[in-house]
Amino acid sequence: MSRFKDKFAIISGGASGMGAATAKRFVEEGGSVVTLDLNEELGIKVAEDIGDSCEFFKADVSKAEDWDRLEKHLGERFTKITSVVNAAGISEPATVEDETVEHWDRVHAINGTSVFLGCQFAVKAMKDGEGTIVNFASSLATRPKPFVIAYNYSKAGVLVLTRTVALHCAEMGYKIRCNAVQPGAINTPMMQRYVQAAENSEQQLSEFAASHPMNRVGEPEEVVNAVLFLSSEDSAFTTGDSISVDGGVIAI
Ligand SMILES: NC(=O)c1ccc[n+]([C@@H]2O[C@H](COP(=O)([O-])OP(=O)(O)OC[C@H]3O[C@@H](n4cnc5c(N)ncnc54)[C@H](O)[C@@H]3O)[C@@H](O)[C@H]2O)c1
Repeated sequence: MSRFKDKFAIISGGASGMGAATAKRFVEEGGSVVTLDLNEELGIKVAEDIGDSCEFFKADVSKAEDWDRLEKHLGERFTKITSVVNAAGISEPATVEDETVEHWDRVHAINGTSVFLGCQFAVKAMKDGEGTIVNFASSLATRPKPFVIAYNYSKAGVLVLTRTVALHCAEMGYKIRCNAVQPGAINTPMMQRYVQAAENSEQQLSEFAASHPMNRVGEPEEVVNAVLFLSSEDSAFTTGDSISVDGGVIAI
């Protein structure tokens, strides 16, 4: 398959879960990738496993200076970027009663500011050419659960950020489309951490499954399919939208 022949993607959160799975498929379909992550050890290992068309760059994507470092590192490759996927994120539990301002700010820096910075970087790189941006929101952006108040709010922000960037690019005549995905609970290290931390892991997994009308959790590949659709010409007339990959949660 060569859907991404001559395409060059920057993928945040590329050391793990859905970011890593997106990088792997992007390369399998003919493209090249630079993955960004804080986890250097895993990031290097994943990139090596993917092969020569995948390079790892250590970055804290919530920091503007790290995006500047990436731009310098890429040199002439900066304007060759055709796709940016903002997948880095964290999810840690806190309700309205036990959330703290410090934690709230941390979640928004990683789940919100990083996506804004990734979009700003993408528009600068691609505005004289063409390309796509895909941001990771969540089903919780529109169907929130009470145990992750900061996460819900940050992912709702990602949806409106996505639409705002899409409208700006369209208004400016840039050939850049910006869309989001809204996964339900997906079987990645992020979800597994919740399952492992529960008193009864099996029961926690069943509860995650039961919260989806299709009565199961999703697999990373199922979300990657949507990310790659939004990153390809297959979605040429789609911008400012989001695709739910959530086993029917959006319909509840
Ligand atoms: N797994 C789920 O159930 C689920 C559901 C809905 C949405 N999402 C979203 O999907 C995206 C990918 O999640 P995942 O499940 O693959 O999680 P994951 O934990 O497997 O991967 C997330 C990656 O982001 C990296 N990261 C965190 N903070 C960073 C920072 N400041 N700079 C650079 N990298 C950073 C982590 O090191 C990790 O490698 C996230 O945005 C997450 O919120 C996940």
